[in-house]
Amino acid sequence: MIKKVAILANGGDVSGFNAVIRAIVKTAERYGIECYGFVEGYKGLLNNDYIKLSTSGNNRASGIIARGGSIIGSSTNANVFNYKVEENGQTVYKDLSDVCVQNIKNDGFDCIFTLGGDGTQKSARDFSLKGINVIGVPKTIDNDVACTEITFGYNTAVSVASDAIDRLHTTGETHHRLMVLEVMGRYAGWIALESAISGGADIALIPEIPYDIDKVVGKINQRRSLGKNFSIIVVAEGAVPKGGSISVLETRNNGLGVDNTKLGGAGEKVARILQERTGMEARCTVLGYMQRGGTPTAFDRVLSTKYGAKAMELAINGQFNVLTVIRDGKLDSVSLEDVVGQNKEIGAVSGNTSESNIRKVTMDHDLVKTARSIGICLGD
Ligand code: F6P
Repeated sequence: MIKKVAILANGGDVSGFNAVIRAIVKTAERYGIECYGFVEGYKGLLNNDYIKLSTSGNNRASGIIARGGSIIGSSTNANVFNYKVEENGQTVYKDLSDVCVQNIKNDGFDCIFTLGGDGTQKSARDFSLKGINVIGVPKTIDNDVACTEITFGYNTAVSVASDAIDRLHTTGETHHRLMVLEVMGRYAGWIALESAISGGADIALIPEIPYDIDKVVGKINQRRSLGKNFSIIVVAEGAVPKGGSISVLETRNNGLGVDNTKLGGAGEKVARILQERTGMEARCTVLGYMQRGGTPTAFDRVLSTKYGAKAMELAINGQFNVLTVIRDGKLDSVSLEDVVGQNKEIGAVSGNTSESNIRKVTMDHDLVKTARSIGICLGD
């Protein structure tokens, strides 16, 4: 029977981190299991920096279901299998995972819960090969973690984007403009597609469908011929023109380590071309971090609670090295080996890159079919 566990939250913040932490702690306490939280994700694991989590006493893990961010912090550039360190004035990347393994053993943690996206779960799987008991919980606004139908944080991001589209409608209608909204999602178009449907947008450009600008212009002109002198265009940050390339704002750390490509500019690019081609005024709004912060939706609070409780139940039953998932609409778990797919090499390309094993929008998905049915132009 497990006695002592630790949670780490890793990667970009999302609404729902705290709801997962709360559910893990609440479930653990019912079985008399002690809970701790590593501070700032894998960085805390490396530095052996952790705090006690409980719903009584210091009360850290209660009263937090509605709070955005993470009470134990999170780290966005911490692949401990390929960790950035400064040595003799030079930046080098080192595998420091054995330090983490030793910390876990010395501290007597029976299981580590890894709350994070594809990169976090890749490292979790790599730790499982080093004999550590891990259980992953799929997080990210991008909704691109393999093997699950939904990640926590995604619903809140879609809801924020949908609200933004409602607001852009007003300006578009009033000033007869083309209103472009650039949303996040990296190499997956889930946020763009779902928010375009919920916000009633006319065009959605996603990374999975390289767009033909002529088709987009055609859709705008068709609307004009019907007397609709504005259009709403949702552009995923990873959208690519046919025969063109992804819009990169910045390459960090000389392309080394993880999470080194900062996307940006896709929306502005579309707005500029559309203004030229249609003669209509076009404006671009970049939604950015509004999508990740603040209070989770009711849906995300429930999903996070389901994931947290399930993760702890799995640990109690000795089912380690898995990820909690939603499969066919039901709470379930899958092996972390399935989650990393072909990205098998320990410490190899980890998170948030085009090479990692992520779940993209497929052409037979209901969202694509629905968008096409109601005439949303997908740029093809
Ligand atoms: O993966 C989540 C995400 O918000 C992406 O949608 C976005 O491209 C990226 O993180 C931004 O990362 P950062 O916080 O490093 O700017």
